Amino acid sequence: MGIIKDRFVAKASAANAEIKELLKEHGNKKIGEVTLAQVYQGMRGITGLVTETSLLDSHEGIRFRGYSIPELQEKLPKSAHGTEPLPEGLFYLMLVGELPTKEDVDHVSAVLQRRSHVPNHVFAAIDALPLHTHPMTMFVTGVMALQTESYFSKAYSEGIAKKDYWEPTFDDALILIARLPRIAAYIYRRKYKNNEHIQPNGMLDWAGNLAHMLGYDDHGFRELMRLYMTIHADHEGGNVSAHTTHLVGSALSDPYLAYAAGMNGLAGPLHGLANQEVIKWIFEMQKELGTDEPSKDQIAEYVRKTLSAGKVVPGYGHAVLRKTDPRFTAQMEFGKTHMPDDKLVNTVWNIYETVPPILQSLGKIKNPWPNVDAHSGALLVHYGMVEYEFYTVLFAVSRSLGVLASLIWDRALGFPLERPKSVTTESVKQWLEGKAEIWGD
Ligand SMILES: CC(C)(COP(=O)(O)OP(=O)(O)OC[C@H]1O[C@@H](n2cnc3c(N)ncnc32)[C@H](O)[C@@H]1OP(=O)(O)O)[C@@H](O)C(=O)NCCC(=O)NCCS
Repeated sequence: MGIIKDRFVAKASAANAEIKELLKEHGNKKIGEVTLAQVYQGMRGITGLVTETSLLDSHEGIRFRGYSIPELQEKLPKSAHGTEPLPEGLFYLMLVGELPTKEDVDHVSAVLQRRSHVPNHVFAAIDALPLHTHPMTMFVTGVMALQTESYFSKAYSEGIAKKDYWEPTFDDALILIARLPRIAAYIYRRKYKNNEHIQPNGMLDWAGNLAHMLGYDDHGFRELMRLYMTIHADHEGGNVSAHTTHLVGSALSDPYLAYAAGMNGLAGPLHGLANQEVIKWIFEMQKELGTDEPSKDQIAEYVRKTLSAGKVVPGYGHAVLRKTDPRFTAQMEFGKTHMPDDKLVNTVWNIYETVPPILQSLGKIKNPWPNVDAHSGALLVHYGMVEYEFYTVLFAVSRSLGVLASLIWDRALGFPLERPKSVTTESVKQWLEGKAEIWGD
């Protein structure tokens, strides 16, 4: 791990000095005002976190260390015969803050390969769960079982100094990332493929190996995994999975505990589970209409029915974005290149033309446009992966890159325990009546 660690340390010590200086000079500057509505409505728009790995613009979409998704597709190194970026390169970029060379990416791939062995007790823990268990529950159970390997937790119990916290965090993060594809594939093959497992291929890159162990050796599917693992990796710090990993990590819970907590949040239908909900919703629509090529009028009818039943249209809307998600567009481009005539993929594109005006007409939705989850399932189904309950596990494997790179930075910058103030409605009323001036802590 030497090379990446050395480069990281150089960046982190410079960043530490810079932040110290910034706070010394500008620490008392106000960064915004908080309204009562924001306090009650999910803290939307309140700036209260530092996440170095990526930044979300509500109109442009995500930028990783300043690079948009199309820029990353162009600039990040690819596999020998591929055109999609290798996610190891994105991890390097988020961690070190600079675009990697192909040699840097090969080095990260090799580091991950060397650390990818999953101990048997992890498989035993997953096997202890009944087969009908949701794959995300199996996944988080596997991650928790892996926590026995934590260097951070061992180092902390032995009395490590605060300035050194980052190093066992770094080691844990890389080992965890290295092992997740094997855990994910194990769950897939156990639940859906008769418990017939596929051994890793030591010659493959991280995402290529995931595709291989899942049982999809098609070149297109490997490329899809490389793209998928890149675009789902990070979406700045306030989303549920990133924020939870950061929050739990701020208690100095080790990377396994913090990441598992974050992935429990990803398993919610308003967050990562939306990717399974989208395909479930389309399959139900096809069944009800009796066709796998619904017309736009039929889709519009079904959307209205969904809304009048008091349900959300999965894959549409976003807490921050206000335009079509560039992660949706990247997947659409992939579909146009690899499967332009696929019926399900074309249905996703027809839904894209149909849903936004209907949602807009309701007058209450801030963003009627598709998010990342609106497209991903249809691409997976094209290659035969129809088991949609598994999709959020793929999202989780990818998300490890962003949230764990951020956790390493949290430790390197010495970020403290996160503990915002909360209030009661009674105390709000007293404050509004002028009976309470300001809340203490
Ligand atoms: C992502 C999401 C949770 C953002 O929530 P938010 O920030 O509260 O969104 P808004 O401020 O636009 O919500 C305003 C209203 O529109 C509704 N709304 C938002 N997206 C909607 C959708 N796709 N379908 C139907 N109604 C929707 C909200 O439920 C809310 O209704 P309410 O006032 O009756 O409670 C929301 O858009 C959603 O539930 N989308 C579907 C699930 C999904 O795709 N999640 C993945 C996100 S990456």
